[in-house]
Amino acid sequence: MDRASAARALLRWYVDAGVDEAVADGPVDRFRRAAENTSLATSGHSAPARSAPPPVTVIAPAAQPSADEAASAAARLAAGCNSHEELAAAVASFDGCPLKAGARNTVFSDGAPGARLLIIGEAPGRDEDAVGKPFVGRAGQLLDKMLAAIGRSRASDTLISNVVYWRPPGNRAPTQAEIAVCRPFVERLIELTNPAAIMLAGGVPMQALLGVTGIMRARGAWRDLTLASGAQFPALPVFHPAFLLRQPAQKRLAWADLQTLAARLRDA
Ligand code: URA
Repeated sequence: MDRASAARALLRWYVDAGVDEAVADGPVDRFRRAAENTSLATSGHSAPARSAPPPVTVIAPAAQPSADEAASAAARLAAGCNSHEELAAAVASFDGCPLKAGARNTVFSDGAPGARLLIIGEAPGRDEDAVGKPFVGRAGQLLDKMLAAIGRSRASDTLISNVVYWRPPGNRAPTQAEIAVCRPFVERLIELTNPAAIMLAGGVPMQALLGVTGIMRARGAWRDLTLASGAQFPALPVFHPAFLLRQPAQKRLAWADLQTLAARLRDA
């Protein structure tokens, strides 16, 4: 294999393994360093003079507030927002969630502000991070089809968001602390939207907002979502569309849950 093909094969292997982010400003030639170390170790001689290694930019982490301090700052900021636009701007300006440092874009919401249906998912993935909108990848396309099946769309009558607004590295699940820091914004979004129904897409938003675990058992049953203000909203946990892509046999149950949701929206 020539060097270019070998490099392409290595990059393909990285992408398949989920490595899709560069973490420094420039490449580090670790092979050259390893070779130098090996020759030093085997020669028994002291290090020969050599030119200085290329500069590596070390980005000192900015001092981060504690999760409690960041959540308090988020709560103050969210409380001062009186419209969807103000809240979107406040989230974009907020630096208290450490996920932001590794993300390309803030991913706040997409769809119709003030919609009667609010969908809350887990976290932006790679596609959402690149575009700056929630649910635009394969799972998002399935979500759009699910909405179309009950005569709804993000273009007209549905608002979509997540429990965190920045992509967790490698698409890992957001931590409890990251969710807690973003929560005041999630709650303010619910208050400002004042939806007739909230669909919780997957176990992560279900646990974050209802304190309930076990999506297999909890899906399809309405629960009250209670905000810090005491306000309550009807919330329906459903399977996450990414789960349905992996387990298409579960679409039968997802269809039943969509009918439950549609009935509530008709009656409300
Ligand atoms: N999955 C989510 O939970 N949210 C998104 O925005 C995209 C995928």
